[in-house]
Amino acid sequence: MTLSGIEERFSLISIDKEIYINNFSEDVKTGLTSESKYLPFVYFYDHIGSQLFEKICELPEYYLTRAETDILEANADGIASQFPEGTVLVELGSGSSTKTRILIEAFLERQNLAHYTPIDVSHQMLEESSCSLLKEYPDLEINAIAARYNEGIDHLNIRKDQQNLITWLGSSIGNFDRSEVTAFLRHIRKIMHPNDRFLVGIDLQKDKSIIENAYNDAQGVTAEFNLNLLTHVNRELGGDFDLENFAHKAIYNEEIGRVEMYLVSNIDQKVYISELDLEVSFTANETIHTENSFKYSLDDINGLAEGTGLYVEQQWFDTERFFSLNLFAPAVD
Ligand code: AVJ
Repeated sequence: MTLSGIEERFSLISIDKEIYINNFSEDVKTGLTSESKYLPFVYFYDHIGSQLFEKICELPEYYLTRAETDILEANADGIASQFPEGTVLVELGSGSSTKTRILIEAFLERQNLAHYTPIDVSHQMLEESSCSLLKEYPDLEINAIAARYNEGIDHLNIRKDQQNLITWLGSSIGNFDRSEVTAFLRHIRKIMHPNDRFLVGIDLQKDKSIIENAYNDAQGVTAEFNLNLLTHVNRELGGDFDLENFAHKAIYNEEIGRVEMYLVSNIDQKVYISELDLEVSFTANETIHTENSFKYSLDDINGLAEGTGLYVEQQWFDTERFFSLNLFAPAVD
């Protein structure tokens, strides 16, 4: 059976934009008035930011995407073979869904229809990527959710009789610290049925220079991505950040095992954000912490699942062992 037109195969629910803007203004105010200034990484992904991230994924220095793609290409069929007809492929932070195509194709090879539920903060990205997927695959059905992860998961209408393969690719897990990951895995576990699985891409600890190059690319795309956060504040909240007066900085903190990304003020300056009626002062070299990207050891990954009701059932690597793909299963209690 082949389903009909694109419209009949597509639905999109969106969580209230109002909530978003309120969160954005509050988060920006909290972050920029704090003792050590910070801005939440989630606001990187406006439309321009999402496009810049896609460009990052193609950079020669950014090994993560290539390594994960290699793992998926080598193992997608093996993964798909473990799931029955009717399985729903859920993806957290789907972006352009480029890597997911590999899984979708593997499912379509074995099954008559594929069901895909992408969850992403960018409404526009969801529409664009869904549209191109639906055109390409006539046997694909998409029920998209525009939301953050937690809200998105709670919108999942998981039926009792339907099996889910939830994926979280690209080492997005790296943005969260240990306690946040544990809480999130518990949340995921709560909505999982015994046969559901959670497939997670996790970047591994490795040589400092390889990691730092991946976040300080020669073309300056990562710098643009980082600085775009200020453009986002300017546009949505009436800020007057001058991008010329800030610089991108990314370092690998080996002790903690994470990349730390900052925007550094080049000079003493004041910035006014009209929607918040807030003036923010910066001294020269003062930083805004914009992102953490945690890198894991294999022990860390096993430890991660502990106390969450999940365990690592299967694990795959690229040939260089730069990156890992992990299949978490619910522990029987
Ligand atoms: C989307 C969180 C996986 O940490 O590597 C890329 C984001 N930041 N370059 C990462 C990012 C700078 C990326 N994740």
